[in-house]
Amino acid sequence: MSPKGFVFDFSDKCIIVTGGNRGIGYAFSRAMAQAGARVAIIYRSSKDAPEIAEKLSKEFDVKIKAYQCNVSDAEKTTETFSTIDKELGPVTGLIANAGVSVVKPALELNSEDFQQVFNVNVLGVFNSAQAAAKLWVHSKRGGSIVITSSMSSQIINQVAPNKALTQVFYNSSKGAVSNLAKGLAAEWAQYNIRVNTVSPGYVNTDQTAHMDKKIREHQASNLPLGRFAEPHEMAGQAILLLSDHGSYMTGAEYFVDGGQLVW
Ligand SMILES: NC(=O)c1ccc[n+]([C@@H]2O[C@H](COP(=O)([O-])OP(=O)(O)OC[C@H]3O[C@@H](n4cnc5c(N)ncnc54)[C@H](OP(=O)(O)O)[C@@H]3O)[C@@H](O)[C@H]2O)c1
Repeated sequence: MSPKGFVFDFSDKCIIVTGGNRGIGYAFSRAMAQAGARVAIIYRSSKDAPEIAEKLSKEFDVKIKAYQCNVSDAEKTTETFSTIDKELGPVTGLIANAGVSVVKPALELNSEDFQQVFNVNVLGVFNSAQAAAKLWVHSKRGGSIVITSSMSSQIINQVAPNKALTQVFYNSSKGAVSNLAKGLAAEWAQYNIRVNTVSPGYVNTDQTAHMDKKIREHQASNLPLGRFAEPHEMAGQAILLLSDHGSYMTGAEYFVDGGQLVW
């Protein structure tokens, strides 16, 4: 007889989480570990990532390891994914979550700012997705990819009524990556690879902590649930998409935004 309840058992899964050492990515890593998966945490420069991996590993009694890798570097990303596949694999899923923003008025932005944002949010996501797909296409395994986009793929965040949060490169990078996910889903369905985006609203992380309290209060008061999310509130949607329960889900963007987009 099947067990009662709706079970997400990831004990046969190995998930790579880019930017998995802090913020929303850490919440993803933690949720995967709690579900029983082996987890590879990819970070860029945070010194404490190996320690974070070790702590999670002890807490949930699963194999978790941190790997330093700048996802903007395609060759290094492919190499790292291949190492992970050998050390923790076989890899079954990817959360391409690493992302950055530059907040500056559009009149002051330059091509360095553009590269800083797009090289991580779009190229970095592409490199990660391609590295995972290379593992899966060669071995005919298939897999599931979740990309962390943002509600900013659709809207321009405000700092006050009718006043923009000045981050056009960030917003446009999220528009680009949400579209990228659809294209990859279309191309890779033939290999049994599913690709979706989880698009958060405002979440309490380092990315939002630097913003003025007044701005955050305005933003929270302007959305139906009336508050920012905690990172762990993003995890349920990702778990579903990476699980076998998500087997018919591909090419879609799932908003976890407290209702922001109703406006
Ligand atoms: N916070 C929000 O309100 C919000 C809302 C919507 C969408 N999002 C999206 O959610 C994702 C996570 O955001 P967050 O707020 O949790 O961010 P965060 O706390 O600022 O953490 C960013 C993570 O990305 C990693 N990273 C950055 N550049 C990288 C690179 N080139 N290679 C590898 N790793 C890299 C960082 O590693 P290090 O620690 O080593 O630097 C860190 O783990 C992003 O894609 C963001 O755009 C966030």
